[in-house]
Amino acid sequence: MVDKDVVRRGYDELAETYAAERSEEDRERAALEAFFESLPASPTVLDAGCGQGTPVLQRGSEDGAVAAVGIDFSREQLELAAANAPMASLVQGDLTDLPFHDGVFDAVIALHSLIHVPLDDHRTVLEECARVLRPGGRVLVSEGLEEWRGENPDWLETGVEMQWHVAGAATTRTQLRETGFEIVDERGVSGTLCEDERWVYVAGRLEN
Ligand SMILES: C[S@@+](CC[C@H](N)C(=O)[O-])C[C@H]1O[C@@H](n2cnc3c(N)ncnc32)[C@H](O)[C@@H]1O
Repeated sequence: MVDKDVVRRGYDELAETYAAERSEEDRERAALEAFFESLPASPTVLDAGCGQGTPVLQRGSEDGAVAAVGIDFSREQLELAAANAPMASLVQGDLTDLPFHDGVFDAVIALHSLIHVPLDDHRTVLEECARVLRPGGRVLVSEGLEEWRGENPDWLETGVEMQWHVAGAATTRTQLRETGFEIVDERGVSGTLCEDERWVYVAGRLEN
């Protein structure tokens, strides 16, 4: 079982190391580009588990055409996001209980954040994403191919513990459909920390 306090404390302690190691590979860039192109003009976008604010908040807010909002429960990650994406609005909070009104976003993007949420809460996070989206709004979620649960007491050689519960692509697809999304795109993406990892980026559209 993932302990959310361990995850939050972990990111507070290793925020700078994660940001330094995190790369954006070409297929991720293409997936994000295609997703942003699918949105209406001047969209309001929530980066759910925004971490250090890259790539989503930085890309989303750099030309002023996107109203970008980031949420994360790690204070240190939000400090980095404020520096990397000064135009974005930032909120400290939990993905299972988004502090936003219903129907206020055109899109929610959750890259490598759902995988740190206890599996029993994944569906709640997707329900929260659906709740804060306008009808026809879009979601983009990154997910591992297969279910995997694990912990590393020395992640990124920082001496800091980190925990994950990856639901796997099939479960996430099912949960997206059950929470009202039609799946409109799915792409394979290599690791952002290590090249031999494989992720899928699943895009969904909220059915009216
Ligand atoms: C691997 S980082 C990803 C950061 C960024 N989205 C990216 O693609 O690089 C995961 C982020 O999700 C945040 N996170 C994990 N579980 C969360 C939760 N339940 N509520 C809010 N933030 C959470 C962590 O604090 C961390 O900043």
